[in-house]
Amino acid sequence: MALIEIRDLKVHYPIRSGFWNRVTDRVLAVDGINFDIEPGETYGLIGESGSGKSTTGKAIVGLEKVTSGQILYEGQDITKAQTRRNLRYNKDVQMIFQDSLSSLNPRKRIADIIAEPIRNFENMSATEEQHRIKELLDIVGMPQDAMYKYPFEFSGGQRQRIGVARAVATNPKLIVADEPVSALDLSVQAQVLNFMKRIQQEYNIAYLFISHDLGVVRHMCKNLAIMHRGRFVEIGTREDIYRHPQHIYTKRLLSAIPEVNPDEREADRQHRRAVEAEFKQEESRYYGADGRVLDLQQLSATHYVALPDATLAANKGGVE
Ligand SMILES: Nc1ncnc2c1ncn2[C@@H]1O[C@H](COP(=O)(O)OP(=O)(O)OP(=O)(O)O)[C@@H](O)[C@H]1O
Ligand SMILES: [Mg+2]
Repeated sequence: MALIEIRDLKVHYPIRSGFWNRVTDRVLAVDGINFDIEPGETYGLIGESGSGKSTTGKAIVGLEKVTSGQILYEGQDITKAQTRRNLRYNKDVQMIFQDSLSSLNPRKRIADIIAEPIRNFENMSATEEQHRIKELLDIVGMPQDAMYKYPFEFSGGQRQRIGVARAVATNPKLIVADEPVSALDLSVQAQVLNFMKRIQQEYNIAYLFISHDLGVVRHMCKNLAIMHRGRFVEIGTREDIYRHPQHIYTKRLLSAIPEVNPDEREADRQHRRAVEAEFKQEESRYYGADGRVLDLQQLSATHYVALPDATLAANKGGVE
């Protein structure tokens, strides 16, 4: 059974205006998405700014109210706060945020920051707690004396490690990692990604890995969803998305990954220009009249794309 199943999830924000502060419009931040995450796997959620990624992540951990649809955790619907409490859901499902400086309380020492989820969910004595904090710092490769310091005394990469230590403190089964490395330098990014992978293997944690950059998650994710305007334009395995992208939006995200090999740069530039030209010409075909992403069509057992029917017919022969 999947660890978590998202069924037709919608999160709409009301927009209020005027003298009576009435609801005059809605932002369809998340507008009908479906996906499953298996235990221990990394699922990528990719899209540009404003596409609804964080809203999806927050809805899953219970930080954002669900407008409609269901989130099933080990088969049980946890959309209601009461059910989450009964199941101790927030012990099993944790979140890491992009901005480590604002997500770690600046007035608290690292020991208290990491201990917070432990105090919420486990009954540990002070000595047991100290021991666990040291163990967690060790897991994320931080020295033990870090526990007596404050968040501002660390670099971005170190703070992200502390965020991970806090997230794994309760032995969770799923961590929603919202752009965990976007604020870091490339070399530090690689370090953080590597130790996130190591922890995952050691403790069998599933990740919902959120990023705006398909390059960053290439070696992390088994399955990915490409999100745009609150909906999925394409979902599939790593192979489906990186080798056989079908939606123009996915192709555009892929062509935005910088080419590191200097010999390939000219070819890369040409490819990017070709994708841009296709995008300008074809974009409207890929969206409904109101700019809404079309419904997903199934291309193979794993690959779904929001294509207009005509394109689907033309592609089917080539893809299967
Ligand atoms: N509390 C809120 N009230 C109203 N609108 C909101 C609220 N939070 C988010 N939105 C809107 O919902 C949409 C999706 O936002 P979200 O933060 O999920 O995007 P994102 O994909 O995480 O973007 P980013 O890459 O910039 O973090 C945006 O248009 C945003 O302006
Ligand atoms: Mg976000």
